[in-house]
Amino acid sequence: MTVLDMGCGPGFFTIEMAQMVGRSGKVIAADMQDGMLRIVKEKVAGMELENRIQLHKCEEQRIGVTQPVDFVLLFYMVHEVPDRRHFFKEIHSIVKPDGKVLIVEPPVHVSKSAFEETVSIAADAGFAVVERPKMVFSRGVVLRKG
Ligand SMILES: C[S@@+](CC[C@H](N)C(=O)[O-])C[C@H]1O[C@@H](n2cnc3c(N)ncnc32)[C@H](O)[C@@H]1O
Repeated sequence: MTVLDMGCGPGFFTIEMAQMVGRSGKVIAADMQDGMLRIVKEKVAGMELENRIQLHKCEEQRIGVTQPVDFVLLFYMVHEVPDRRHFFKEIHSIVKPDGKVLIVEPPVHVSKSAFEETVSIAADAGFAVVERPKMVFSRGVVLRKG
């Protein structure tokens, strides 16, 4: 699989996902902060999975990933995006048909209604809800590209 860790931060999930995709897979670790991408680069330097990880610098209003992906992780990042409608349209253009997206948000910053608004924006962009996993201290939803 090719997966996108969107808003990867310091790469906590990037490394986990690079282990999960195996030798033939790829993780695109994308963030708008050079400092975060530098941390990921330094963390994985010399690791066996280094060549499975491709770093990508985003603009705040443009993801800019052109390679189609099977899965997108949006962990604790959607609430930081200024224009969610534009964001999910772009995510939709990147995800392969039948590909999935996992959104996880912190309840401290994202109320139930704000989270549902995000789910509705994602639905307008062409995603269907497939699962609402129960998570401790987080709100989560799995979407599929329709
Ligand atoms: C709270 S951190 C979460 C990091 C990581 N996903 C994790 O859970 O460990 C949010 C990250 O999303 C990035 N981010 C926020 N808005 C973004 C945008 N519009 N485009 C790209 N990255 C963004 C920030 O730079 C930051 O590194």
